[in-house]
This record gives sequence, C-alpha cells and structure tokens, in this order.
Amino acid sequence: MIPNSLHARDIASLVHQQSDLDAFNREGGMIVARGEGCRVWDVEGREYIEAMAGLWCASLGFSEKRLADAAYKQLLTLPYYHTFFQKGHEPAIELAERLLALAPRCPDGKKLARAAFQCSGSEANDAAIKMIWYYNNLRGRPKKKKLIGRIRGYHGNTVAAASLSGQPHMHADFDLPYGDRFLHIDNPNYYRFHHEGETEEEFSARMAKNLEALIEKEGPENIAAFFAEPVQGGGGAITPPKGYFDLIQPILRKHDILFVADEVICGFGRTGNMWGCDTYGIAPDILTCAKQLTASYQPLSATLINAEIHETLIEGSRKNGSFGHGFTYGGHPVACAVGVEALKIYAERDIIAHVKRVSPVFLAALEEARAHPLVGDVRGIGLIAGVEVVADKRTREPFPAALKAGLAVQKGCEEEGLIVRAIGDRIAFTPPLIITEDEAREIGARLRRGLDRAMPALRPALAAE
Ligand SMILES: Cc1ncc(COP(=O)(O)O)c(C=O)c1O
Repeated sequence: MIPNSLHARDIASLVHQQSDLDAFNREGGMIVARGEGCRVWDVEGREYIEAMAGLWCASLGFSEKRLADAAYKQLLTLPYYHTFFQKGHEPAIELAERLLALAPRCPDGKKLARAAFQCSGSEANDAAIKMIWYYNNLRGRPKKKKLIGRIRGYHGNTVAAASLSGQPHMHADFDLPYGDRFLHIDNPNYYRFHHEGETEEEFSARMAKNLEALIEKEGPENIAAFFAEPVQGGGGAITPPKGYFDLIQPILRKHDILFVADEVICGFGRTGNMWGCDTYGIAPDILTCAKQLTASYQPLSATLINAEIHETLIEGSRKNGSFGHGFTYGGHPVACAVGVEALKIYAERDIIAHVKRVSPVFLAALEEARAHPLVGDVRGIGLIAGVEVVADKRTREPFPAALKAGLAVQKGCEEEGLIVRAIGDRIAFTPPLIITEDEAREIGARLRRGLDRAMPALRPALAAE
C-alpha cells in the first residue's frame, strides 16, 4: 500500500533507474496506479491518455480481461515449465505455430522457420547475435562476425544489444560498444539530416551508398549482419525515408550479409500491417519481436530464424552437444498462454483493419500541431509517429540542448492529461492499438494545449517568424 504520493516518489527513486530523487521530481516523475482502456491514473487520481502504450507496448490497453484470464488459467494448469533438455510445453508450441504462420517471407520466398523464446526484446536480439556468430563459425566463416546497427538505433540493453544500439548515453562510461564487432551507420532521419533540396529518394540513395562504402571498407568477408528497426522507436519514432529498404536490401544480399528485422516495436500491427517488414517490403533472415506479442501483460520475446540457420544450429548440436543458449524463464508457459490469447484477440478483432481505420485520424490530429510555432516536423505511419520541436522552422535549427525543449513539451502534455515521450526534442506517440477515433482526436487536442504550455519557457529561444 502506498500511503501518499511523496512516499511513492521516494520508493520510485529507489527502485527505478532514476537514482536521483531531485531529478525524478524535477523531470515530472509520476507514479501510475491503475489503467483502463487507453487511459491510466496516477496515485493522485489524475487521468491520462497513455499515448505511448507504456513503452510502445500495451497494444490492447490496460484492462483486457481475456489476457488476465488466460494467465490465471495457465497458472492453475502448469504455472512453470522450461524448454531445455528435450522438454517443452503446449503454450510454447502453440504460440510458436501461430507466430510462424504469421511470419513474413525470407529472401528465398519461404517463411521464417523456427521460433526461440526469450523474456525480453534485448534477449531476443542477443540470441540473434549469438546465433549469427555460431552459424558463421559452423559455415566455416569465422571472420564474418561484425554487425552493423544504425546511429540512434535501439535494440536493448544487454551488453551485445546495447553495443549494437546507436545511442551515445548507452555507451558512455559503460565501456560499450564491447569489442570491435559493432559498427554503426547513418541515422535515416530524413527531416533532421537531409541536405537542402535533397529529396527523400536521394537521401535514401546517399544512406545506401554510405552503407556500401562501410561494407567495402570493413570487407564484406568480415560483416555478418545488419540490424534495423523498420520504424526506429527509441531514436525518435523515425519512419524510413522513401525507397530506403528497397535500396539497402540488395546491397546486403550482394555481400551475403543477413538482415535482422528488429520488430520489437513494429510487430503485431503497429505500422498498419502485421509486421513493419510487410509495410516496407523487407524480407528478413531473422526477426525479433516482443512487447505486443503479449500486449505486454507478460514479459516474452521471440527470435524467428530461417530454415538454413536452423539447420546449421542442428549441425552445431551434433558437434557441440545441445545448443548452449536459453533462459530459465524463456518461453514461460504463462507468458506464452497470454501470447496465444493476444494473437487470438488481434485476429478476432481484426486489429490491423482497426489500425488502418484509425491511423489517418490519428496522423491528421497530430498534423494539426504542425501550425504551432514550436513544431518543425510531424511524421508517422499506422499508430506510430514523431513530432519534432525546433527553434527555427525554416532552418530546422534545434533549441539549445540546455533548454530541454522536448521535456518541456512532455511535461506540458502531462499537465494536459497526455502521456507522451520526449526523445531529445522529438515527441514520440504509440498509443494502444485499440485507440478510438475520438481518443486519437483528443490526443491531438491535448498535444496542442501541451505545446502551448511549453511556450513561455521556449519562446525566448524561438526564431523570429
Ligand atoms: C526496437 C527495440 N528493440 C529492442 C528493445 C528491447 O526490448 P526490452 O526492453 O524488452 O529488452 C526495445 C525496447 O524498447 C526496442 O524498442
């Protein structure tokens, strides 16, 4: 029982990443008490539309009873079992079958063939990395080990996933990236990084050219895989520029470099199709997913691999004994049962058709903020979008970092009952997939009022109109 909010804040500062209570309070720390539909309430009883679905993940909102029932039923039947040493359980098998039936096509036209369950998105990417290294050793290519991620990419927080991520604060003083196997190429944020007069297609061509130059510099024989989120989440909800993946994929194929699609955010309808891969015509060799796999009612992730990688892993077992990877709670039966139920709900309610219907209303509601003096860019797809605030709309000049403009907008929105996430000066939106058209319009209205609230602090740094 939390007796009062001050006490609650004390506790949060102890248990959360924010070890500094002052920073927690100054930066708008909030203790969330309960949720219903797309809304949550804090311990002081204030209501918020959760326009981030938590951490881009609570796809079915905060009160889906069917998921709670599925967990409870599984707890009563088989509350725990593992998937090591020739053991398995029905929820993991059923979930793997359902997932693989939905999986996108690989470059050879076949679907991804096998699923390995972990607990988190970080672990799913970590598992992918280990499998890639193992695979290339078994295929007699021990040098082909380097991995290419993207600047501002986010793939999680294990040592390997954080190394692959391109976020400076995840590397500084952690001695990461670890070793010399992690390379990073351009961030495909067209708005921020295009040259004056450069079209999206030209920008994509420049990105692809730089990728090929990096591969040639490092030697294709040393590069194992390229990891990309179809839409970059933690980098600021960045949709790829036109033609980007169409240009990148042939380069990877030419150099026999695997494409790993990190669908941890995009998977299960976020972009208006089952996968971001479907939206952008990506044919992956490996796909990682988590979050919306269980609507985040249970921690679970999966690494889906193609048939050739799977066969190579089996060869490895003949040589090395059982595949030396796995976690006590990986593929936990309660999490898998919730995952099965989430996939059933997505299908029964045709959640993808719903996203396609609401998306134009959602994007138009955000688009209305473009006229606001603070807003330089509004961009999104499906139910994921980013709104960037800038000091000068004409030149795209950012605000001085010390002003923490994004955070000011985030706070303004929270005062208006809207939870968003400031990533630098880009405000991210990924509401639950069940959001209604009215709620989508309300997000837009609360955002505009939140921007107004941030105006007094930011006006002095704004360029003259
Ligand atoms: C694209 C992407 N990959 C991986 C991860 C890591 O997932 P987790 O936090 O479950 O380890 C995240 C988390 O936000 C993510 O956005």
